[in-house]
Amino acid sequence: MVDVDKIRHDFPILQRNIYGKPLIYFDNTATSQTPRCVVEEIEKMYYEYKANVHRGVHCLSQEATDAMEAARLRVRDFINAGSREEVIFTRGTTEGINLVASSYGELLGEGDEVILTIMEHHSNIVPWQLLQQRKGIVIKVVPMLSDGSLDMDAYRALLGPRTRVVSVCHVSNVLGTVNPVKEIVRLAHAHGAVCCIDGAQAVAHQRVDVRDLDADFYAFSSHKMYGPCGVGILYGKRELLEKMPPYQGGGEMIGHVSFSGTSWAELPFKFEAGTPDFVDAAALRTAIDYLESTGIEAVAEHEHTLLRHATEQMEKIPGMRIFGTTPGKCALISFVVGDIHPYDLGMLLDKMGVAVRTGHHCAQPLMEHLGIEGCVRASFAMYNTENEIDSYIKTLQRAVMMLQ
Ligand code: ALA
Repeated sequence: MVDVDKIRHDFPILQRNIYGKPLIYFDNTATSQTPRCVVEEIEKMYYEYKANVHRGVHCLSQEATDAMEAARLRVRDFINAGSREEVIFTRGTTEGINLVASSYGELLGEGDEVILTIMEHHSNIVPWQLLQQRKGIVIKVVPMLSDGSLDMDAYRALLGPRTRVVSVCHVSNVLGTVNPVKEIVRLAHAHGAVCCIDGAQAVAHQRVDVRDLDADFYAFSSHKMYGPCGVGILYGKRELLEKMPPYQGGGEMIGHVSFSGTSWAELPFKFEAGTPDFVDAAALRTAIDYLESTGIEAVAEHEHTLLRHATEQMEKIPGMRIFGTTPGKCALISFVVGDIHPYDLGMLLDKMGVAVRTGHHCAQPLMEHLGIEGCVRASFAMYNTENEIDSYIKTLQRAVMMLQ
């Protein structure tokens, strides 16, 4: 059971008024808000032990290094990775997928196939298109069914002897669909392919166990899980990371540098060129502790209660069209109402204190498939309440009436 009143006190931003109305923050899929303890951890590091990591013998550098490496261990346990070497700090999910497409992509050749799905975020499309330009790979796309679930028969049919990579979102940022990634991974492996999972929309909303999934790569961002911006994680299986070339050069990713040849550092540092964002990495640990202190299962239950409540009310609004209706979907609702432009609806809701996202949600191929230019999306987090849903529904009804 989530103690929402207590949780809300930890998030000062939720006390804000927007245009004189109490803020209702329903744009959690874009970014979640940050609890005081995470901001305090950042502040403490800046005030007390900010120093470059892995480089100094002095005390401050040791303390900063310890904080960053403790965060790595916390992430390892959080996702049940086999070792700390398999946990790479990145700038976020996008960089994690770019790293895989660029570096693992080096091992691919012309005609090799990469399977994506119609519901991918641009961050899991464009890196593969860049690889396509560089290497002449072939991209294949799994379609979906009308409820927003993946067409698994079509997926099975796309797998073949040239399939080298399957890269798929765990949870769709538009449909909320929770994809059967364990089965997707199993099928990919049966065809000798590796599987990369975009976990940006999953990690804060359900328990993720990368070893249970048998995922080869799993990328996610801190800022969507109550952590700081600018840092993310790429999990990769050690045997794959070992044979991949570095993604970027410089900083502590080297073993030894000379003009006659350079060697690489051991994992995970081989993939961490330049000074890492050690402050935010350390604060991610605090965010994970915060999330776990509530309990991710309890958070998921709370969010699903909000989702059910909001969906029931929204379905009563004439002209309402909700995209993504799979059972067990994540707590987000993308929709249009009649022919009201999503921007108009989003802007009016904002003027009434409700923050939602509007537009193509970085998923233009999916928008095209749905036959829309964009939609409105309301998405929920652990600090949202049923009262907020009720106010939002009244506000939405008013906005719809004004725009019709
Ligand atoms: N990927 C984020 C979203 O869906 C930005 O809004």
